Amino acid sequence: MEKYDKPVAFLDSGVGGISVLNEAIRMMPYENYIYFGDSKNAPYGIRTTEEVRQLTEKNVKFLIEQGAKAVVIACNTATSAAAEYLRNKYKDFPIIGVEPALKPAALNHEGGKVLVMATPMTLAERKFQNLMKKYEEYATIIPVPCGGLMEFVEDGILSGDPLENFLLQLLPPNLRNNTEAVVLGCTHYPFIKEIIAKVIGGNVAIYDGGMGTARQLQRKLQREKLLRRIEEPGEVRMMNTLEKGERLKLSETLLISRPVNL
Ligand code: SIN
Repeated sequence: MEKYDKPVAFLDSGVGGISVLNEAIRMMPYENYIYFGDSKNAPYGIRTTEEVRQLTEKNVKFLIEQGAKAVVIACNTATSAAAEYLRNKYKDFPIIGVEPALKPAALNHEGGKVLVMATPMTLAERKFQNLMKKYEEYATIIPVPCGGLMEFVEDGILSGDPLENFLLQLLPPNLRNNTEAVVLGCTHYPFIKEIIAKVIGGNVAIYDGGMGTARQLQRKLQREKLLRRIEEPGEVRMMNTLEKGERLKLSETLLISRPVNL
């Protein structure tokens, strides 16, 4: 098999990275993809940085063995803990990470209030701290640690009262008031962006990094001459470390319509 025919692999602590995969499929429909969700070890956000690094390395190694031509770490927590380390270790292999879309949010809402919702680990790591320093002169940036939120998405709960009440507690009125923009710093959250926007109210703008990551992947594949040259829709192979079939079923539901191999 030619190298460019091999799949691009996406990995995440669970089903969240499918929000990034969907953007990649829209942009590069001819690629073959593997999606690997580590739901058995989710959530990553409550683990130590070392644990997340080890889990991510194990998963990247596995995906390289599966024949991936590139890996997208479609998880903010795993990117913060492991992307730089893995890029140094696997120098010639394309590894793409994700980043909260703070730049467009801060620049489009100069002088405004911008919330960044992410796991406590993502917000505490150096990667986010540096990003925040870069843009805090443009807007009032408020990190909001969202422990417990990704679990709703992992359980397939994307709307309804329990989720809404959880968000109302996470985002009390002093945080919600006068918020112009929210940055979704966890790849699970785009699946619940409507309810986040409803809880915050007003004309809040929601930013997620999925499209930016897909663009970055496309540029990388182009540069490395790895874009698939066959103009027919590729396939998606879904994998999940949870033995029970529910996560795979949920993964299929979250994926934009596509031939899927489970
Ligand atoms: C988690 O596993 O705790 C959340 C995943 C993410 O940060 O995208």
